[in-house]
Amino acid sequence: TNRTFTMLKPDAVEAGHIGAILEKINGAGFRIVSMEMTQLSRKDAQKFYEVHSERPFYGELVDYMSSGPIVAAILEKDNAVADFRTLIGATNPAEAAEGTIRKLYATSIAANAIHGSDSDENAEIEGSFFFAKRAQY
Ligand code: GTP
Ligand code: MG
Repeated sequence: TNRTFTMLKPDAVEAGHIGAILEKINGAGFRIVSMEMTQLSRKDAQKFYEVHSERPFYGELVDYMSSGPIVAAILEKDNAVADFRTLIGATNPAEAAEGTIRKLYATSIAANAIHGSDSDENAEIEGSFFFAKRAQY
């Protein structure tokens, strides 16, 4: 068993999709270890997405991710990182497979509903960014 980290992004929260997305996540066999609804400051979003700071869309990404509430969570399952990336689908919802969370709920490549860590190492770093100070179960 291992862990990944996710955020339901501002577009998905604003559109009222928290419940449906969490059902898909649980239905796919992920256990929710920690979860919090919060809003990132611009500074938090800049820090979280620092790896993308040289990409042309960095400013847009930071503005967007700090524009409204998000739901952050640590998830547990065998092969968590890879299986969760499969469940959420391609970054661009136009290219996401049928039945994936992004195909169902994302509206654009920028407002793409959900984040999933891309490696075990980043899952640990990203989870700690939100939950390091609190108990994990
Ligand atoms: P995450 O799970 O959110 O990390 O997505 P990803 O791993 O599928 O994509 P990547 O890490 O390459 O990009 C991070 C995020 O930046 C994406 O999820 C999008 O929200 C945003 N993004 C990626 N490409 C573009 C783009 O061309 N324009 C804009 N505005 N945002 C983009
Ligand atoms: Mg990524």
